[in-house]
Amino acid sequence: MGSVNNSIEIGIDAAGRAVHVDVQELLATRLLVQGNSGSGKSHLLRRLLEQSAGLVQQIVIDPEGDFVTLADAHSHVVVNAGDYDEREIAAMGARIREHRASVVLSLETLDIEAQMGCAAVFLNALFDAPRAHWFPALVVVDEAQMFAPSASGDVSDTVRRASLSAMTNLMCRGRKRGLAGAIATQRLAKLAKNVAAEASNFLMGRTFLDIDMARAADLLGMERRQAEAIRDLERGHFLGLGPAIARRPVAVRIGATATATRMGTHSLLPLPEAEPVDMRTMLFAELETAPPPPPPPAPPPVAAGELIRRIAEREEEGDLAVASPAVAALPAPDAVESDAAVVAVLGEMLADPEAAFHPESFLYQDFSVRCRMRGLPRAPLDLAEFRRRFALAKGGVFAPAEPRWGEALDAAARLPDDMLAPFLLIVRAAMEGESCPGDEALGRAYGTRSPGRVRRLIDYMERLGAIVVRADFGGRRSIGIPGLGLTTEAE
Ligand SMILES: Nc1ncnc2c1ncn2[C@@H]1O[C@H](COP(=O)(O)OP(=O)(O)OP(=O)(O)O)[C@@H](O)[C@H]1O
Ligand SMILES: [Mg+2]
Repeated sequence: MGSVNNSIEIGIDAAGRAVHVDVQELLATRLLVQGNSGSGKSHLLRRLLEQSAGLVQQIVIDPEGDFVTLADAHSHVVVNAGDYDEREIAAMGARIREHRASVVLSLETLDIEAQMGCAAVFLNALFDAPRAHWFPALVVVDEAQMFAPSASGDVSDTVRRASLSAMTNLMCRGRKRGLAGAIATQRLAKLAKNVAAEASNFLMGRTFLDIDMARAADLLGMERRQAEAIRDLERGHFLGLGPAIARRPVAVRIGATATATRMGTHSLLPLPEAEPVDMRTMLFAELETAPPPPPPPAPPPVAAGELIRRIAEREEEGDLAVASPAVAALPAPDAVESDAAVVAVLGEMLADPEAAFHPESFLYQDFSVRCRMRGLPRAPLDLAEFRRRFALAKGGVFAPAEPRWGEALDAAARLPDDMLAPFLLIVRAAMEGESCPGDEALGRAYGTRSPGRVRRLIDYMERLGAIVVRADFGGRRSIGIPGLGLTTEAE
């Protein structure tokens, strides 16, 4: 499945096996994280951001200023929203797209209405970037229900609508422009439905309220009863599902993070080892003499022009230089030749020597995912078409429309699709004057390891008149194709 390079480890499952997230696929299919306060959503987002920092540009909308510490370990530029006006925020949004800078937009000093207004201006600027700047970026929004509330609240209608529409754009129409939302919310019921519905990947954490659980069950396509499991999840444990994570719900314990929130964690620390008497001395010593330490001075705000210069610098530093080319240059879908993509994807799939033995549903899913990774909005073949094209490709025919295959395909007309691949192997050997493919090769093309089934396959094709088998006295086999008037060499 998705190439290893684009895959990050998010945590481990119940059996201790690594659970991966395919970042390339995530960019196409978005992520929704839900869990009650303290369930570990922000930790999860941090893990996701840290692990994918070298793979993809990251833009974080951070209501609490929680993620500014990412800048300590990675190259994120921190934008303290309170220091800038609307025009400056919009200008930064545009520059961020242009220079592919990873950024944390900290909204912590603003009141809720200003947070929503600022997020709207910023997201709109990202969204409205000119086509030439539609590079893929992961846009992480923590506390998404704040920016896309399902009901009107205390804020003005204008601001609420602006923020909701920016979030809707991000989740519904962002993909084509390279923007992929990964959003977290405490309460699904408080998040606007259309915003939640556009994510295909879910990580569901502990959820108390029935109404949230019911919505989670709907999104996961689970029975309500099954979804009860998320009521009892521990902190840091999530149920994951979706094309970028797993095809069936998987229990994930999110792994550790390298950076911490600014507050640090609130877990219990070992108690200090001092004797009680020492403790007293320490507490009361110098109480009068020592003045209280002055509060740390707030760093002066960085001028907007200076910040924009830093954003531009990120590109020169080439932070994403290590990014895999596939992630770095997700092409606009309409620029992709879909048939060329199909040929390339089939080639990729068949590079896996086990490919022929996988079940068809798995193969088709794999095919669809790979097509999406190439920027095609949907799989360009339906299941029946895929079955035929995959069989042809296994037989070495990747572009059946090419004139050189015309006769061979005519000769194959009476065969069922699943016999196309072994038949074409024989045809190609005959056309190229090579020796007859052996049972193992024919079995691989047919999807079987059973010699008995290969023999029956050959018998069957012979009875249909598609082939004629000849064995010489030495036991060597050659196969003729009456429809083409050709014969393979003996093998
Ligand atoms: N997988 C984990 N491993 C270790 N610690 C974790 C894990 N998940 C969460 N924690 C810790 O649990 C606490 C709560 O987690 P977090 O802040 O991520 O919750 P949250 O869901 O974002 O809550 P809120 O909705 O209130 O913001 C934090 O101190 C965090 O460091
Ligand atoms: Mg949080």
